[in-house]
Amino acid sequence: MNQSAIVIAIDGPAGAGKSTIAKRLAADLNLRYLDTGAMYRALALVASRRNVATDQEEAVVATLHSMELEFGPGDPVVVFVNGEDVTNAIRTPEVAELASALSAYGSVRKEMVAQQQAIIAGGGYVLEGRDATTAIAPNAHLRIYMTASLETRALRRTRQFEEQGKAEDFNRVRSDIENRDHRDITRTESPLTVAEGVRLLETGGLGIDEVLNQIKVWVADL
Ligand code: DC
Repeated sequence: MNQSAIVIAIDGPAGAGKSTIAKRLAADLNLRYLDTGAMYRALALVASRRNVATDQEEAVVATLHSMELEFGPGDPVVVFVNGEDVTNAIRTPEVAELASALSAYGSVRKEMVAQQQAIIAGGGYVLEGRDATTAIAPNAHLRIYMTASLETRALRRTRQFEEQGKAEDFNRVRSDIENRDHRDITRTESPLTVAEGVRLLETGGLGIDEVLNQIKVWVADL
């Protein structure tokens, strides 16, 4: 098939390697990359800065409507909210936690999914996030669910923080991930789930290149 119009959706829990793989895959296949989690993180950041009553769904949705999100190239992806570069500010454990909480609201998800579908409408995207294969792109050409054990995922996240110069305690990272997993899996609106027909990719014993190679074999088969 025409590879430039392809849509690849990558789903899975925190720390499974979605972002790393989606970014590399997009670069290798000359596709664009959409980090849907960054959108929830940006919402969380703005809501907390503005002291929005985050237990009030309408107040959170109103905040989302007041935001203009833009992405730039970079690793991690450069994110602007209303013209301000928030790339680093959205990568804290606090923002991740609030993003997970706010992502449970149905009206927030509805608006996010609409924005995400508009972004990928023309094709040519690798997108990743916890509903990428179910709600955002159920008809993607290739849908992948990446996963790994809690220990592996927590270790990867701790290393990632280290690389960013932030020392985070492994046990704290692990329990944060565990809590987020629980919330993402048990929420009523688009819970994190292994959708029918997705390709399961257990990344535990695999290096980045091995994961990429497996996905490229699937792409070649399309
Ligand atoms: O992938 P991430 O860690 O940047 O995502 C932050 C939170 O946003 C995550 O805990 C759940 C939520 N999220 C979501 O509900 N749906 C998505 N498509 C992406 C993220």
